[in-house]
Amino acid sequence: MTVAVTGAAGYIGSHVAHLLAETGVHVLAVDDMSSGVGSRIDAFPLVELDLARDEAPGVLRAAFAQHQVQAVVHLAARKAVGESVEQPTRYYHQNVAGLANLLTAMQSSGVDRLVFSSSAAAYGMPDVDVVDEAMACAPINPYGETKLVGEWLVRAAARATGLRAVSLRYFNVAGTGRPELADTSVANLVPILLARVAEGLPAAVFGDDYPTPDGTCVRDYVHVADLADAHVAALGYLEQDDRPYDVLNVGTGHGASVLDVVASLSRALGHPVPTVVEPRRAGDPPRLVASVERISEVLGWRAARDLDDICASVVPARA
Ligand code: UFG
Repeated sequence: MTVAVTGAAGYIGSHVAHLLAETGVHVLAVDDMSSGVGSRIDAFPLVELDLARDEAPGVLRAAFAQHQVQAVVHLAARKAVGESVEQPTRYYHQNVAGLANLLTAMQSSGVDRLVFSSSAAAYGMPDVDVVDEAMACAPINPYGETKLVGEWLVRAAARATGLRAVSLRYFNVAGTGRPELADTSVANLVPILLARVAEGLPAAVFGDDYPTPDGTCVRDYVHVADLADAHVAALGYLEQDDRPYDVLNVGTGHGASVLDVVASLSRALGHPVPTVVEPRRAGDPPRLVASVERISEVLGWRAARDLDDICASVVPARA
């Protein structure tokens, strides 16, 4: 079987691509290489393509036919929340028009299985202990909006064309499955902490007066290797007939505060990481933790790794 992985040169996409290859699947990488790293996908044929361009459906159709693609994992997207606030048009164009082009190509090529990379950002600021997939979504930035609109588009295509699809709502993805695939962008808490340590700076804690046990924001940190496993499970699920469209959280079900992450990283490093409290960051929900009941029922998937595994995995990668 051949699976096209869009965004394969990215941090998460490359983990998915390599895990698929390990399971015997042929991978066709699709990436515009705007932020991807070429060495992550040396092992795979590459279609270098911006999915939002007008010619994308035709290019994809030819590539799907040439490589006999049977399913797609679609991760290619812009994902910086702050940037999405400044450049909403670009985000809608890249994330929604790109997806529409992909779906057009899939339909006309007879490729009828899709795993769509969505985000917990679709939920917005839910005031609950754990969020489940039936909860109303109210994204608070254009990035989250494009992911929710993407889910709707996938759902509509599934109803209209018989596409079999699953949307995976990623929570806070961190860690590395292998050093060469490590997250090289310094955009999220764990890589930011590592960068601060490397520079001899204390960890900045954005607010310690939230209504949480230690006052810092709580998130659900899921190991990227577990997340990759969830994609493989989702593709297996879609191989069976009559699978209705579904949306599934991908998290651990456990919350960790910013200070919990600092403590775990300190254990992994073998020395304490000092902290400095800074003002709250705009738009941070105090708590965002997944209910993982549904993904466990539907895919039989549960995270096998915890926060200490995440932090241990990134320390040798950065050493
Ligand atoms: N934080 C700090 N100090 C830092 C960096 C982050 O205290 O130097 C805090 C943030 O305020 C937040 C937590 O660490 O409370 C996690 O922040 P991230 O920026 O790593 O992640 P977010 O929860 O803001 O968002 C991430 C992804 C989104 C995704 C979301 C899903 O960036 O794309 O998880 O839960 F939608």
